[in-house]
Amino acid sequence: MFDPKWEDIHNSRPWSNVHNITLCKVVEASIPKGGKILDLGCGVGAQAIHLAFQDYHVLGVDGSISALNNLKQSLIVEFPKNLTLVAADVMNLDYPPIFDCVIDAALLLHLPYDMGRELVQRVKRWLTPEGVFVSFNPRSIPEKYTYGQFTNFYTLEHMTEIVKSWRCYELASIDSEIMSKEVLSYWWAQMSHRSLKVSINDYIGKVGRE
Ligand SMILES: C[S@@+](CC[C@H](N)C(=O)[O-])C[C@H]1O[C@@H](n2cnc3c(N)ncnc32)[C@H](O)[C@@H]1O
Repeated sequence: MFDPKWEDIHNSRPWSNVHNITLCKVVEASIPKGGKILDLGCGVGAQAIHLAFQDYHVLGVDGSISALNNLKQSLIVEFPKNLTLVAADVMNLDYPPIFDCVIDAALLLHLPYDMGRELVQRVKRWLTPEGVFVSFNPRSIPEKYTYGQFTNFYTLEHMTEIVKSWRCYELASIDSEIMSKEVLSYWWAQMSHRSLKVSINDYIGKVGRE
């Protein structure tokens, strides 16, 4: 369920639209240009904009209309034709298997565990047989970035349970020093129906935002 408090957050403070280098590199190495990407909880478009400019067809979905408006207003160039935005609760989505890649950049931790697990199961049905799901979520955050009840950190047991039905996956737990040198810890999961040539570990040293 989409928590309308996200509207207040997106209305009251700017959200970084600088893309996550590691996540985008993994996506770019996993699927060819021109592929279809679904960005779940795209926010102000940090990943969606970058990937659209890398010639992917991107569908960005976010429950917050303010976030999507902020995305549009932040663009100093023409809105890319290959980027589509939809305001919706991610739990209300339904698609045929059309996406080459689905990304989740810090959405999962804002959903209760059962909902997150259900969403990841649905993602599998929206991917092509060659499709890849790339997920990046903090497993801890300094207090001031947690937004109170919005965060729901998943444990190793949670993550292991979530990825277990995927034929092939890589799960990594990593620490990164961003946000004023405070240590953040992340879960990375890259999942697919096929064997993946790209390893998240190849990029781990570069985690962070440019
Ligand atoms: C931590 S932000 C991440 C935004 C973006 N992915 C990024 O990397 O900057 C989480 C986003 O998920 C959206 N969101 C949270 N719950 C949602 C839901 N149930 N349906 C759709 N969007 C949701 C919020 O509005 C917010 O923009």
